[in-house]
Amino acid sequence: MKIFIAPEAELASMVADRYEALLKAKPDAILGGATGSTPLGLYAELVRRNKAGKISFKDVKTFNLDEYVGLDGSHDQSYRYFMNKNLFEQIDIDIANTHVPSGIVTENCADYDKEIEAAGGIDLQLLGIGVDGHIGFNEPGTPLDSLTHVVELEESTRVANSRFFKSIDEVPTHAVTMGIKTVMNARAIILMAIGKSKAEIIAKTLQGPICTEVPASILQLHPFVEFYLDPEAAALLK
Ligand code: PGA
Repeated sequence: MKIFIAPEAELASMVADRYEALLKAKPDAILGGATGSTPLGLYAELVRRNKAGKISFKDVKTFNLDEYVGLDGSHDQSYRYFMNKNLFEQIDIDIANTHVPSGIVTENCADYDKEIEAAGGIDLQLLGIGVDGHIGFNEPGTPLDSLTHVVELEESTRVANSRFFKSIDEVPTHAVTMGIKTVMNARAIILMAIGKSKAEIIAKTLQGPICTEVPASILQLHPFVEFYLDPEAAALLK
């Protein structure tokens, strides 16, 4: 486990360096994508480097962590829409190689794991973290051996995400998410956290006991995980 602490602007560039190195070594890498505010700086930096000809996503495949149940890709709060707008439409990726779980057809969502496996498994999974310790939408209590599944969102998650909707009533109550096992199957993992609202959960994740009440704490057991934190998110680490 490695921990890097740097100001937010530098974090994006440090993580982009990791992507650049991976794509140089393996141009057809399988990338695990995340949504939320945290990766926006990184995505902007990847777009910049792609436009500058430093990295190419021509042969890359992506699998995103999660999607709201009930929203299709044309909804401006769906995660498919977020990824298209903030990354895919701005880089040289083949959109057919990008995958986001369906929020509409959720019956066979565990097939998503089979698709990931068939593609060769995820080389690098990007994660944010919820204030309750969720990774993807794996809320507290999620079994550690879970594969892609439908979850009911915690109230704290719906409140946190209501900033993107007109009101909390519009925030979906359920989501499809890669399971904790799906995430842990990735060969390498990068978790980014920014801001003081994440300080308490980052301390529990990195220095507390491994428990299902803090889903991200399982990452302590991953053989290749890196945490990129700004000073505020790292403030309560001992
Ligand atoms: P955020 O969300 O990046 O918008 O803070 C992270 C998450 O909930 O996983």
